[in-house]
Amino acid sequence: MAQISEKTVLNMSRLPILMSRISRSFLTLAVFSIVALSSSFSAFSDTTATAASATANPALISQGEQLFKANCKSCHQIHKDAVGPALSGVTKRRKADWIYSWVHNSRKMIDAGDKTAVELYNKFNKAEMTSFPTLANADIDAILAYVESVPVPTEVVPPVPGQETTAPKGGGEYDTVILSLIIVVLILVLVAMIIFLTVIKRYLKEREGKLDAEDKELVDQKFDIKAFVQSKAFIGIVVAAFVIISVRACWISAQEVAVEQNYAPVQPIAFSHKLHAGDNKINCNYCHTGAYKGKQSNIPSLNICMNCHTYVKSGPKYGENEIKKLTDAYAAGKPVRWVRVHNLPDLAYFNHSQHTQVAGIECQKCHGPIEEMEVVKQYSNLTMGWCINCHRETAVNSKDNAYYDRLLKVHEESKKKGDMTAEEIGGLDCSKCHY
Ligand code: HEC
Ligand code: HEC
Ligand code: HEC
Ligand code: HEC
Ligand code: HEC
Ligand code: HEC
Repeated sequence: MAQISEKTVLNMSRLPILMSRISRSFLTLAVFSIVALSSSFSAFSDTTATAASATANPALISQGEQLFKANCKSCHQIHKDAVGPALSGVTKRRKADWIYSWVHNSRKMIDAGDKTAVELYNKFNKAEMTSFPTLANADIDAILAYVESVPVPTEVVPPVPGQETTAPKGGGEYDTVILSLIIVVLILVLVAMIIFLTVIKRYLKEREGKLDAEDKELVDQKFDIKAFVQSKAFIGIVVAAFVIISVRACWISAQEVAVEQNYAPVQPIAFSHKLHAGDNKINCNYCHTGAYKGKQSNIPSLNICMNCHTYVKSGPKYGENEIKKLTDAYAAGKPVRWVRVHNLPDLAYFNHSQHTQVAGIECQKCHGPIEEMEVVKQYSNLTMGWCINCHRETAVNSKDNAYYDRLLKVHEESKKKGDMTAEEIGGLDCSKCHY
């Protein structure tokens, strides 16, 4: 009888031992997961830094964004004064009622002698704001929610209305929440495990003498955080994780050095390609006369502008203001100092006519939808990889080209493998693009 009970006790004691082993491996696993997750967390955080500032209801914000674009954007920017003042922070400057009645009918407030309204009106050179009597207060609230949700941009923001401000990307926010949740849960599990282990150990200690040697060793072995942190395996993994993350970060940022994609500098005159090349359908070649015949696609001189602006004295957006800059400069004989957008380094050779005239590539393929841009931005990244990829993929244009007719014939005879690409006429030779 005594023997039987002895045996059951021993068998019972195997269970805690087993559990203690399992918890131990789990503990190690949990520690590493937390380390790994925290590091990917830091990788995430730079994409989410901007998203975090959007706090209000996203549906309201997006409704506001549409209303803003449709009604206000032509005169207002979020963070910069345009025709009207920068709207960011307006909810702090003005009471809601004031804003409602201002937007509904600003003229009425000015005429009624509202002090703030009159001051504003004078400050903005007596420019008249359109009245929006039909906008509901809820619509105005939506616009304000949108306006206050846009974070201060870090990049150059073109001052011309109609250009999109860089809105925050929403995707990262969700990931961050999930990631933080997982980390919190893991930490809780970790704490629970440690408590559990201690309890089991204490229980096993009490039954000492009834354990075999191996189990005894396990029980006596202390789980020592210090020893664990100092262990080779732990240090090794932490160092490896650190190295991998830093190398990856360096690699990514190194690839962005001197790449100016989306660069859209502020120009001295608010010249709009959308208005000229888009709405008024002026051919690119009318202004960029070199684009089809030379290396450089030159920027037009004021003479070309004056072909029209001798007569066209006022524009839809800025009235006479911007065109006046142009006619004044012309009268003074001073060229306009346009800010260069695209700029390959001196070590690279690029020729427009070879691509537009010979290869028949459209401007938009490289420059994007210029005819929709209020402010020109650099659409492609202009890296060497960008040039090379296109040379690998693009068939040469052999139409009406006797030189290529002969070359193509030879090509077809030598290898029956489809289109002849720019690569095959030497488009990957270093010396073709480098001096
Ligand atoms: C035609 C140009 C124009 C349009 C369109 C326009 N605004 Fe204005 N807004 C102005 C000007 C100019 C001022 C500065 C006061 C003045 O000169 O009348 C101003 C001032 C304001 C102010 C006061 C800002 C402050 O700092 O107190 C608010 C608010 C405002 N506008 C909101 C809007 C909203 C909302 C819309 C779209 C529904 C809009 N505006 C559309 C030109 C415009
Ligand atoms: C009415 C004259 C005019 C027309 C038409 C025109 N442009 Fe321009 N373009 C300019 C001026 C002026 C600039 C310099 C100011 C600026 O960057 O906005 C410019 C700048 C550019 C730039 C940037 C140059 C740089 O600094 O790197 C590109 C690219 C460009 N134009 C492409 C086009 C294309 C493509 C078309 C046809 C769809 C076109 N343009 C039509 C006048 C014109
Ligand atoms: C082929 C004719 C033509 C040429 C060339 C031309 N423009 Fe214009 N421009 C127009 C027209 C048309 C308008 C719009 C007038 C309107 O809609 O009220 C305009 C409007 C403008 C505006 C006013 C925009 C606004 O919204 O208020 C500016 C600024 C301007 N052009 C600058 C230039 C510059 C700089 C050049 C030379 C690089 C140039 N334009 C060449 C026809 C031309
Ligand atoms: C194969 C790609 C490609 C095509 C097609 C192309 N461009 Fe460009 N464009 C470039 C590159 C690359 C630069 C920068 C050149 C430099 O910095 O030397 C550039 C620069 C420019 C500039 C600035 C002035 C200059 O020459 O540096 C203008 C303006 C321009 N392009 C207009 C045009 C127009 C207009 C067309 C269509 C007729 C066109 N481009 C077609 C790639 C292209
Ligand atoms: C959209 C596609 C495209 C892009 C982007 C592009 N190219 Fe090209 N490139 C071509 C094609 C197609 C040809 C062949 C033209 C021909 O038939 O001669 C060519 C030809 C050339 C040639 C002449 C090669 C030879 O053997 O005669 C040079 C040099 C060149 N490209 C330089 C560049 C540079 C530098 C860049 C990047 C800044 C670039 N290209 C970007 C399509 C492209
Ligand atoms: C189709 C055109 C083209 C060909 C072919 C080409 N390159 Fe380039 N390369 C470029 C352009 C454009 C840049 C500038 C890219 C930039 O500014 O990011 C560049 C940049 C470079 C750079 C970087 C220089 C610096 O200061 O960052 C090196 C190195 C280089 N090329 C070497 C070569 C070698 C070696 C070859 C032959 C195997 C070659 N390239 C063939 C277009 C070309």
